[in-house]
Amino acid sequence: MERRMRRCRALFWGIVWIWCCTCLSGCSGGQGKRIVRIGHNQSTNHPTHIALTAFQELIDQELGDKYVVEVYPNELLGSQTDMVQLTQTGAIDFCVASNAILETFSKDYEIFNLPYLFASTASYHHVMDDPAVTGPIFGSTEKAGFTAVTWLDAGTRNFYTIDRPIEHPSDLKGLKIRVQQSPTNIEMMRLLGGSATPMGFGDVYTALQSGIIDGAENNEMALTDNGHGDVCRYYSYDMHQMVPDILIGNTAFMEEMSVEERALFEEGFCLVNQVEREEWTKAVEKAKERARDEQGVHFLYPDQKPFVEACRPLHDRVLEGDRDLLPIYEAIQAYNVQYPSVE
Ligand code: GCU
Repeated sequence: MERRMRRCRALFWGIVWIWCCTCLSGCSGGQGKRIVRIGHNQSTNHPTHIALTAFQELIDQELGDKYVVEVYPNELLGSQTDMVQLTQTGAIDFCVASNAILETFSKDYEIFNLPYLFASTASYHHVMDDPAVTGPIFGSTEKAGFTAVTWLDAGTRNFYTIDRPIEHPSDLKGLKIRVQQSPTNIEMMRLLGGSATPMGFGDVYTALQSGIIDGAENNEMALTDNGHGDVCRYYSYDMHQMVPDILIGNTAFMEEMSVEERALFEEGFCLVNQVEREEWTKAVEKAKERARDEQGVHFLYPDQKPFVEACRPLHDRVLEGDRDLLPIYEAIQAYNVQYPSVE
């Protein structure tokens, strides 16, 4: 509660501050420079922040006479849903949002939230790198005010619990598990037999600590970087999702730029993707070691088949709800054949 109050206060002052800057200086920094604000919800050690810092440096080096990039970590500008809305209206220029919450802004994003969509990490990466697959989805919110400019790896999502090891979907019965605020995630939890408790990322630690929830699901970084491994004993590699993070930008801001400026920003978006992916691989290895050795988390490797079987109906349901996703789904299946599971 106290943590929540602190975040609300930070959000309030963050927005007041942005509002003052916008009113007093016509949206420009010192010497008439245009301030470019980017928000995200990770710590400053996280690959997302490291990658955005590289972007900041590139823009400073190449376009520093015109733009000043400011990166706001740790939900300083609010939860991801708040930040997407701020980006949509142009109160900020960019933010990083999980693909999961973007499905509430455009149904097309549902596809990347499907459990067991990708056969392997290689397939996931090839799909996300293929503009023929991502293009229609990334552009689907253009008219609504924001556009996706690149994706960031957020690894594989798995269940972790305070004290009940999850070896089979039946172990989830009766457990309250935090999920991201997305209808697909809520339905996934229902199919797996647990009780879905949707909430923002920043509230999960307190909810675990106070026993409001019995567990959550995320990549390994949540154990260390967000302290969830201080409370949860078991982390089960059921590998239910590979949900990318997406860097989105205000459409009007990007359309205002000259062709040359836009080309440099595009270079910056590629750099964000490249740096984040390099950092991600190293960060996950370190997180696993730290969780095991310092936090005493037990890693479990259950048979994934019963989890896959339980989630299967969700694929048909999402495709029936949006027939336009079918060609994209088929393109993903072709990558799955080319890059099958290595298990
Ligand atoms: C990951 C992901 C975040 C997301 C979080 C969550 O950390 O990178 O973008 O907000 O999961 O579970 O909410």
